[in-house]
Amino acid sequence: MSDIKNVAVIGSGTMGNGIAHTFAQFGFKVSLIDISQEALNKGLTTIAKNLDRQVAKGSLTESDKESTLNNITTYTDLKEGVAKVELVVEAATENIDLKLKIFKDLDACTSPTTILATNTSSISITKIASVTSKADKVIGMHFMNPVPVMKLVEVIRGYATSDEVAAITMELSKKLNKVPTEVNDYPGFIANRILMPMINEAIYSLYESVAGVEEIDTVMKLGMAHPMGPLQLADFIGLDVCLSILNVLHDGFGNPKYAPCPLLVNMVTAGYKGVKSGEGFYKYTAGSKDLVVSDKFKK
Ligand code: CAA
Repeated sequence: MSDIKNVAVIGSGTMGNGIAHTFAQFGFKVSLIDISQEALNKGLTTIAKNLDRQVAKGSLTESDKESTLNNITTYTDLKEGVAKVELVVEAATENIDLKLKIFKDLDACTSPTTILATNTSSISITKIASVTSKADKVIGMHFMNPVPVMKLVEVIRGYATSDEVAAITMELSKKLNKVPTEVNDYPGFIANRILMPMINEAIYSLYESVAGVEEIDTVMKLGMAHPMGPLQLADFIGLDVCLSILNVLHDGFGNPKYAPCPLLVNMVTAGYKGVKSGEGFYKYTAGSKDLVVSDKFKK
């Protein structure tokens, strides 16, 4: 049905480089686009490191690694990077004004048939599509972090997304060895509508001193077989990202049950954003895998 071979990925941060890595590993030609060559080089270094990890585990060969890297070309010019692709996956910073600007630009510089996907974790697909002249071609393709490992792609249909574009996106995700799951465009979609209230409740439990950081995470890890406890996962996702998604749920539904915990608001305001800032509920030291509770929460 689809004949997609060339894909542009916008943004070479954590999600963008993971998405580029995955498409390239499965034989697609990838244009990786970012605003500076420095950001692109950092993205490529991360991809090479993650490929080395797969080679060391024996899930890829050294020659698979080389062909994956050879499938990726970097661009700092949006127009040049998207010129010959059939699909764009936007994975820029989660900022609505930035995404709207990118989609306006994409509308002007892609062919009428190019599918425009966004990896947004919470911004309305329908809103993003509304700034283009081809809302039927706009769709959500929400990958999970770490992208090369996680099996899910949440495929989000905007109000005007066509059946054909939804079907192509589902089929394409299967070619990446993922399990695509189709959902409609309402605040938080499904993944974050369910995940974020759980994380918020874990933070409320800490805030109300029901239990400590390690106890809360241990209950959920061992009791519910989650690979990470909710507080560790919040640090991994980024506390600023969690707060912003909770605000989208709160504003979008107007329901106080989604109000972010005041402790989360304070931590983000103070710059404690989790792994990316070096400290959140836990403290992170480069090169160490040890999970050390932040001094703020030591008993
Ligand atoms: N690239 C390639 N491979 C990677 C990788 C990466 N970036 N990160 C980890 N891996 C591989 C490892 O090589 C390893 O492979 P094998 O199974 O073949 O041994 C495997 O993944 C597990 O890695 P580790 O042994 O290093 O560590 P782990 O067992 O602790 O697992 C984890 C790490 C996969 C991150 C696991 O802790 C986990 O699943 N955590 C939860 C992740 C999660 O919930 N993600 C979703 C977040 S929400 C989101 O992304 C969307 C949103 O909108 C907020």
